[in-house]
Amino acid sequence: NRPDFVQLKEVGPRDGLQNEKKFISTEDKVAWIDMLSNTGVTEIEYSSFVNPKWIPALADAKEVGKRIKRNPSVRYSALVPNMKGLENAIEAGIDRASVFMSASETHNMKNINKTIDQTFPVLKEVIVAAKEEGKKVTGYVSTVFDCPYEGSISPEQVIRVFDRLIEDGVDDISLGDTIGSAVPSQVESLLDEILKRFPKDKIILHFHDTRGMAIANIMTSLNYGITRFDTAIGGLGGCPYAPGAAGNVATNDVLYLLHGLGIKTGIQDKKIQEASIFIQNKLGKKLPSRSLAFMEGS
Ligand code: HMG
Ligand code: MG
Repeated sequence: NRPDFVQLKEVGPRDGLQNEKKFISTEDKVAWIDMLSNTGVTEIEYSSFVNPKWIPALADAKEVGKRIKRNPSVRYSALVPNMKGLENAIEAGIDRASVFMSASETHNMKNINKTIDQTFPVLKEVIVAAKEEGKKVTGYVSTVFDCPYEGSISPEQVIRVFDRLIEDGVDDISLGDTIGSAVPSQVESLLDEILKRFPKDKIILHFHDTRGMAIANIMTSLNYGITRFDTAIGGLGGCPYAPGAAGNVATNDVLYLLHGLGIKTGIQDKKIQEASIFIQNKLGKKLPSRSLAFMEGS
């Protein structure tokens, strides 16, 4: 069941930076995203068109979008919470809009200031408008295993949001282990339900590595035939509205696993290493990726 080819979406410039205290200058972001565009990765989530008061680290999303050098083999996406975000994103340039909400009522409220039921029509409007502009739309569902405020989230709660986003027209869905708490048996139980409802090539898994379980969970997902994952270079990342959430699983570590298993990604390790070191130097702190430490010159 394990795939021969896996597609990684690089979320470092978005999920990776959104929680960083140090503001990375627009110029450095652009230089870094341009490096990422030449690693062989096929999708980059380059920023968020949210309220800059909520996410100051990405307040320059529009400027970044306008200045990056687009590689025609890369799809550029960004987070879009509402119509205002979509207008800005389209002006800055996106190939794909990523709408987002939570399976947990409390996390949804803390993160986007709405109940789940208030969120659906807002996202639907974005989905419809984005499609009219010829853009694809990814739907993120957060806290699919556990919520930092409510604890355990049931597959039924996830399915409710999942089904509605599909009905409202998203092209694919990214399932987020926002606080990095899942173990492989939880991934199996969720995928058993999800794969009954939606083709596996439209499912993306988004693991944070808070407890070091992300690689085990990715291995489990691979055995279910999942071919798409969100990863962040160096293991950067975390949601400011999910206390205790650590970084995304590191692109570097996932590449070590995939390439070691003989699964192709089209991504060049050496270039990922260079881009990791670039942002590590800009942030002025060691990135959490385990395999980066073994890469030459890190
Ligand atoms: P709100 O305050 O409820 O919005 O925020 P509002 O519609 O009432 O508007 C209030 C003000 O915000 C107004 O400005 C709007 O113009 C402005 P004012 O008149 O007061 O000056 N505003 C905006 N400004 C710029 N861009 C916009 C925008 N929308 C409204 N798009 C909102 C609602 C959703 C905007 C807010 O809650 C927000 O920005 N939340 C962002 C939270 C966020 O980015 N969280 C992190 C990403 S999610 C994540 O990390 C999880 C994920 O990685 C998956 C996983 O790990 O599970 C995806
Ligand atoms: Mg995330």
